[in-house]
Amino acid sequence: MEILDLRHFSSVDLRPLLDDETQVWSRLLTWDYSGSAEMILRYVDAKILPGYAAIERGRIFGYSFFVYEGSKGVIGDLFVADGGRLPNAREVELKLLTHVIETLQQSPGIHRVEAQLLAHDAGSVARPFLEQGFQRHQRLFMVLPLNQAQAGKIPTHPDVDIRRWTEADYQPSAAVITAAYRGHVDAQINDQYHTLTGSLRFLNNIVRFPGCGLFDSESSFVALDRKAKNLIGLILCSRVRGDVGHVTQVCVLPEFRCHGIGESLLAATMGNLRKRGFSMLSLTVTEANERAVALYRRLEFESKRVFDAFVWEG
Ligand SMILES: CC(C)(COP(=O)(O)OP(=O)(O)OC[C@H]1O[C@@H](n2cnc3c(N)ncnc32)[C@H](O)[C@@H]1OP(=O)(O)O)[C@@H](O)C(=O)NCCC(=O)NCCS
Repeated sequence: MEILDLRHFSSVDLRPLLDDETQVWSRLLTWDYSGSAEMILRYVDAKILPGYAAIERGRIFGYSFFVYEGSKGVIGDLFVADGGRLPNAREVELKLLTHVIETLQQSPGIHRVEAQLLAHDAGSVARPFLEQGFQRHQRLFMVLPLNQAQAGKIPTHPDVDIRRWTEADYQPSAAVITAAYRGHVDAQINDQYHTLTGSLRFLNNIVRFPGCGLFDSESSFVALDRKAKNLIGLILCSRVRGDVGHVTQVCVLPEFRCHGIGESLLAATMGNLRKRGFSMLSLTVTEANERAVALYRRLEFESKRVFDAFVWEG
């Protein structure tokens, strides 16, 4: 087995592996990975995707890639065919990660590395991260089956309006995100939340790029202070499969919390998806974010997987 630079290969070499990965994402996360796979293949053909491929008898059977975002490196993915079943698959995953981590930590100007490995069980590939001084945060992948018959009511508030998210909400949404995550554990995991520019970049990634599913404006809502008319909370949802929605963001300004606004935003999204015949809604949440986890449990979301987020600051 050899580990080689991913930029030596083309989409023809990588496609069979990504077809396997698409099946795994569908099974583990009810997520249609084919849109992301096509994007990865385009970058591979353009020879601009940094990463590594595991090769045996001329065939790619594992890969990991990363992207540079200013002074940050983000590990985009890690996948090895038959991961967990082949006796040496785990070893190959660890080798690929070791190469990626080393490359990123030695890249000039890179001061931070982030990774979230949704399709890997917590702890399963933690070793190379922990050995290189990364912090680890356990996160939950939660799902709620959307029973059409159970169209619950959206709780209303005398001082708050809930309406659909529009493009005009871009700037105020970024301001709410920045304020909502000040001092929050998720701002340790994703440093985009630290600044208004970073939150705008986060929004742009969610709304304009298909990496995390296709943004679904119909099931995305904002909460407004009825008197002042300003935005005080929001929920953004993407379509990760024909009939599956995924909450990519939900937050409420600190001074408006504990009045049921978060629950109303989630109920608005759930109601919209039910009406349109969706069968499931999923989301991810950091285990240490106990308030949010309690809220999701109360709304009958169930934890389906536990995965790791890793962060290194050099
Ligand atoms: C998570 C978050 C969106 C919840 O928003 P919220 O408006 O406070 O949510 P709710 O008011 O609906 O529910 C929160 C709690 O308030 C309680 N509550 C709801 N209405 C209430 C009322 N009228 N009076 C007192 N308490 C009330 C709920 O019982 C709930 O308690 P629980 O934590 O034990 O479940 C908000 O805390 C937030 O923005 N956090 C930072 C960002 C974040 O963590 N987002 C989630 C990332 S996955």
